[in-house]
Amino acid sequence: MADLSVTYMGLPLKNPIVVGSSSLTKSLDGVRRCEDAGAGAIVLKSLFEEQIEGEIRQAEREASPYEHPEAFDYVRQTALHLSEDKYLRLIEDAKAAVSIPVIASLNCVSPEWWTTYASKIAKAGADAIEVNIAIMPSDLKHSAKEIEAIYARIIEGIRRRVQLPIAVKIGPYFTALPQTARSLSSAGATALVLFNRFYQLDIDIEKMHLTHGYHFSSPHEIHVPLRWIAILSALVGCELAASTGIHDGAGVIKQLLAGARVVQVCSVLYQEGLGRVGGMLSEISDWMDRHGFTVMDEFRGRMSMELSDQPEFYERLQYIRIFSGVD
Ligand SMILES: Cc1cc2nc3c(=O)[nH]c(=O)nc-3n(C[C@H](O)[C@H](O)[C@H](O)COP(=O)(O)O)c2cc1C
Repeated sequence: MADLSVTYMGLPLKNPIVVGSSSLTKSLDGVRRCEDAGAGAIVLKSLFEEQIEGEIRQAEREASPYEHPEAFDYVRQTALHLSEDKYLRLIEDAKAAVSIPVIASLNCVSPEWWTTYASKIAKAGADAIEVNIAIMPSDLKHSAKEIEAIYARIIEGIRRRVQLPIAVKIGPYFTALPQTARSLSSAGATALVLFNRFYQLDIDIEKMHLTHGYHFSSPHEIHVPLRWIAILSALVGCELAASTGIHDGAGVIKQLLAGARVVQVCSVLYQEGLGRVGGMLSEISDWMDRHGFTVMDEFRGRMSMELSDQPEFYERLQYIRIFSGVD
């Protein structure tokens, strides 16, 4: 019988399927349902810097009769604590309710915000923190180097405050990802989550206004994280978690072969229900039995760029017929 257990950031997981940060994990009931479905761990819904700023602004508007700056300051602090406290309570409740690891998630866009809050998360009992950083480079003022330095400063700040394992969740849009990944690892990341799938934007051509695109990934989106997990697994000192486009057991196996320690799943669980976790676990088990593997370490990273007998495939970007089979 295949043993699916793994360690992720030093945490023991009974299997490598982690339910990714989303509304599936925004409540105690959701967290319980993920555990019942067989997940190895969960990442709580992110606490968003922007969202708290919005709540604070709303509270400030409601406080407009008070025209004293101290009153605004008080209201601002209270709104901040309310959002934060709600999240800390969710961590505490989730830890008391389930036995799988509970990873808290913070969405950061500035280095100042979360460093003090990180130690409260540790005290609330989270097993690790996932820091979701997404800085939209939509102006001409900042160079890639400046923006990447912000990512590292956020991690350094949090690392100074907590001993907890820190996973850093990033998107795929970096010019020199190996260097960025290495700098995040040096700044204190225990793991990198590759990749976040961002909010999708669309245009309604009749009303000519902006709308949102499709929320969920498709299985075809696995290829970008797969390539980068395979390339980075030998280049960075920290662990890698694969995210985006993993919809079945085969997707999990591919990412483990590329070098991932765990995978995070989200879209497929929205689309097909949490019962899909059990199906994916059976698919992994069956595959391991068929190939004579008893533990994950026997095959993890076997198809990474370092160990693959076709490493040149990972560097190929253009469609040339002899490689792509397309004329
Ligand atoms: C409805 C929804 C809400 C999400 N909320 C968060 C979030 O709060 N924080 C976060 O880091 N990622 C969030 N994500 C991104 C997922 O965690 C995941 O990285 C992404 O969906 C790619 O994985 P998938 O292909 O398995 O869906 C959300 C995704 C969806 C679909």
